[in-house]
This record gives sequence, C-alpha cells and structure tokens, in this order.
Amino acid sequence: MQVAPGAFHFKGYLSIERQRQLADCCRELMDGDPPGYVPVVRGGGRMHVRMLCLGRHWNGKTYRYERSRTDHDQLAVPPLPAAFGDLARGVAAAAGMELDADICILNYYDRDGRMGLHRDQDETERSVAAGVPVVSISLGDTARFLFGGLRRRDPIDAVLLESGDAFVFGGAARLRYHGVSRILPATAPSELHIAGRYNLTLRRYDLA
Ligand code: SIN
Ligand code: MN
Repeated sequence: MQVAPGAFHFKGYLSIERQRQLADCCRELMDGDPPGYVPVVRGGGRMHVRMLCLGRHWNGKTYRYERSRTDHDQLAVPPLPAAFGDLARGVAAAAGMELDADICILNYYDRDGRMGLHRDQDETERSVAAGVPVVSISLGDTARFLFGGLRRRDPIDAVLLESGDAFVFGGAARLRYHGVSRILPATAPSELHIAGRYNLTLRRYDLA
C-alpha cells in the first residue's frame, strides 16, 4: 500500500517460512566473522542497535561508506548475499521501482532498541538524486516506525512494522525523515525464535 508518493508499506510481504530462513541468516551474519557491533557515532553517543554492514560499511564517525570498518576493527566488509539482492529487487518491483542493491545495513534491536529521526543520505548524490529506493525488511518484534517529511519539523506518522513487512522509500520519498521510536517486546512470531527485531535496509551506493 502506498503511504506517500514514493513510499510503500507491504504488510506480510514474506511468508513465515521465508521469514524463518532470513532470520536464521541474520542471526548467523550478526554473530559471524566479522560480527555486528554497536557503533559510536560522531558526537560520541552509542547507537541503540547492533549493526552489521554488508557490501559496504557505513562509518558512524564519518557518515561515509567504506570497504573496511575503519571506525571499529579495521576488518573487511562481508559481501552482500545474492539472495538479499533478489529480495530487494522483488520488493522494489512491487512498488514499481528498480533496485540493484549493493549494500545491506543489518540492524538488531533488543527490547530497548531505537533509532533517532534521520535521513538516509550517505549513498552517492547521484543515487539519492535519482530516487533509487531504500528497501526495508522487518523480522521479529514489531517496531513503531516513524515516517516524516522532507524537513525535520514536518508532521510525523507512526507506522507499526511487523515481522515479514517490507517498506520502500524511493523517488519523491527518498529523503524523508524516519526512525524507530520503540520495539514492542515479545511480539515476534514464535516460529522465528527471536527476542528483538532484525531490520535489513537494502540500498544502492552509486548508479551503475
Ligand atoms: C534505518 O532507518 O536505517 C532503520 C529503519 C528500521 O529499523 O526500520
Ligand atoms: Mn534510515
């Protein structure tokens, strides 16, 4: 369903079996080598998520993408699994858009997890200006997702993102402010054996 020009919320996009496969994959990646970590950002604050970047690393100190984790442990960034690229392409197509993703930011929110209002603007200017969408996939506990406008002071809608939902913001919505105000603990489907929430955001760094 379209929630704003260029923004779509697809409830129940993923079957429970697909969610289970993806959740297993997220768990393995997050506890893998290199593992996810809690970034410390520019101002010195710790984020309220555990993060693992695939394809390219988002550096929380410089707000730039890079090939190794120079703000943390210098380790090389794991590749983007092909299945993640396929998933992103399918969701984007459902929204009438194209996405050939080369980055995934995988975030894990525990019951106290949250993310302040921000814009996704660290991909290249060309990619952002072309409105290449960001595709977001939610697994596990429900999140209260905040979706605002192009200016920080614009009105903000609260949207519940449940396990298996997909959300897309591209085109005219590409630079809208968004964030996660809270997680609703113990709302994950029991089949997933998740306490907390995984969110994957799939992006395109630059145009081809
Ligand atoms: C993000 O904005 O990067 C994450 C959004 C979410 O967790 O739903
Ligand atoms: Mn974001």
